[in-house]
Amino acid sequence: MCGIVGYIGHRNAYPIIINGLKRLEYRGYDSAGLALFNHDLISKKTKGKVADLEQLFVTKAETEGHIGLGHTRWATHGEPNDINAHPHISNSGNLVIVHNGIIENYDAIKQTLIQRGYQFESDTDTEVLVNLIEDVMRNEKVGLGKAVQMALNEVVGAYAIVVFDKQNPDEMVMARLGSPLAIGIGEEEYFIASDATPFIEFTKNAMYLEDEQMAIIKRGAEPDIRNIKDDSKILPYIQELQLSLDQIEKGGYEHFMLKEIYEQPNVLRDTMRGRVLPEKNLIKLSGIDNYLNKFLNADRIIMIGAGTSWHAGLVGEYLFEELARIPVEVEYSSEFRYRNPIIKDNDIVMPVSQSGETADTLAAIKLAKEKNAFIYAICNVVGSSIPRESDSGTYTHAGPEIGVASTKAFTTQVMVMAMMALKLAKEKGTISMSEYNLYLSELAQIPEKIEKTLKTDLYIQQIAHFYKDATNALYLGRGFNFPVALEGALKLKEISYIHAEGYPAAEMKHGPIALIDENMPVFVIATKKGQYEKIVSNIQEIKSRKGKIIAIVTEGDTQVKNLADHVIEIPETLEAFTPLLATIPLQLLSYYIAVYRGCNVDQPRNLAKSVTVE
Ligand code: AGP
Repeated sequence: MCGIVGYIGHRNAYPIIINGLKRLEYRGYDSAGLALFNHDLISKKTKGKVADLEQLFVTKAETEGHIGLGHTRWATHGEPNDINAHPHISNSGNLVIVHNGIIENYDAIKQTLIQRGYQFESDTDTEVLVNLIEDVMRNEKVGLGKAVQMALNEVVGAYAIVVFDKQNPDEMVMARLGSPLAIGIGEEEYFIASDATPFIEFTKNAMYLEDEQMAIIKRGAEPDIRNIKDDSKILPYIQELQLSLDQIEKGGYEHFMLKEIYEQPNVLRDTMRGRVLPEKNLIKLSGIDNYLNKFLNADRIIMIGAGTSWHAGLVGEYLFEELARIPVEVEYSSEFRYRNPIIKDNDIVMPVSQSGETADTLAAIKLAKEKNAFIYAICNVVGSSIPRESDSGTYTHAGPEIGVASTKAFTTQVMVMAMMALKLAKEKGTISMSEYNLYLSELAQIPEKIEKTLKTDLYIQQIAHFYKDATNALYLGRGFNFPVALEGALKLKEISYIHAEGYPAAEMKHGPIALIDENMPVFVIATKKGQYEKIVSNIQEIKSRKGKIIAIVTEGDTQVKNLADHVIEIPETLEAFTPLLATIPLQLLSYYIAVYRGCNVDQPRNLAKSVTVE
């Protein structure tokens, strides 16, 4: 999730853009850049923060100009460094672009452009796009707006882009598909940004491009809004913004955590984008393709992680063993690093981490490398320490996770492991082609099923209000949902400070059932697939001891409904994918209980987003 700021008008663009970029740093940054036009093009960019970028604009002359673009990058293609930072400039030096999104077919386009003599400095998909636009302008003899439209009809992927041509500095072109773009409308001036935070102090009149829409804006003229596909003209819908700065940063949600819970359908689409291709019966994961023999000959996968990432690893254990028949063990990084673990030649060590900076996990990787292990990382932050220390890996593309309590990090990590396990199962022939196709098509439907699950929000708020004063809680699950029980308990304890424990449901009779009384809420994942009858028995044991039961069930379930005090229905899915759905109500439950308890949901006490110390 990158940050875009553009300006064209009568003011000096530099302060508007640089301050606007600072407002957007919550969207994630690993590098930043800014380009201005004033008699000539001035473009500077750097790895690091916006403050580091500011240091590069030294002279007054460098900060003058009435048209400009700025960008904070959250890397998806290409390491975070100066060259890969935006803006990117076309080979002629005339076109300047900033981009938020992923162009899936950029490599094929890049090869074609290279054959036509174009040269590339960076590893980014964005530099390919700006040269594709230039190539269309040259070959079709069309203006920037038409060239952008024609170029975008050749690309596959998600984008919010803003482009200008230094030869025509009174015009700016922007377009969106899947990534947000807001246009602030002032007196003889336009502000363009990923959201309204950079321009809300200048104007409250804004319009938001919809998917497959583009805008050609000229200083002093009405915006020309078009449909990218058919060029049809669209009347701009201009609204007066009522949101505060803080509300806009959170996308209108009260907390980043709730925003990130609701982002999960779209970020999971990003996780799968260009990778899960049901129409081709294909899963493309370059990290695995480059080391396929390692995985096909693997005797064991050792997953290492902490907290939520460790829980995701536990789901991965069920996925890799069930689908690809590869033995897995899951280790806490903090324990693994201090043991003298036995790692054999055909073992794969697989660190799982959202931040890519967790000290214990980093230390565990270094220990594994001393034993010549092959390291395959699953991480969210491109270019962070853990991927850099690893031989290969797969990024989750979850975008920045600001809330300390991980939510979309968990589901995207599980999604990556599901893709990996499925790909390897097909390669190894451990599942039939019909099973593979069934799994693949179901995986593609998960985002929509999460959207449906999120519709239980209001009912979950009522349940949360009922249990907000609990002092303890138990979470139970079996099979694939045992790790979900652990994750649900972690969510509750870390943001509401209620003591909560997760258990395999069958473990109750080995001790925890002594805790059950009328004051103990027990959250049970009792979805239809897996050991359903067994978990129903567990529910009956709890009920007979007056425990309060909140059950997550498959929609249409009637049996548990007659036993539980509250029932939250989730759509049916394959057993292997139930963690992706069952975790959603538990995220919402912990969120609303914490809110009712007046806790600081985004920054819970004693916790940091990334534990970079021991
Ligand atoms: C989970 O909600 C916490 N934020 C914490 O347990 C976290 O999962 C853990 O610190 C690991 O962080 P990482 O994924 O960035 O390595």
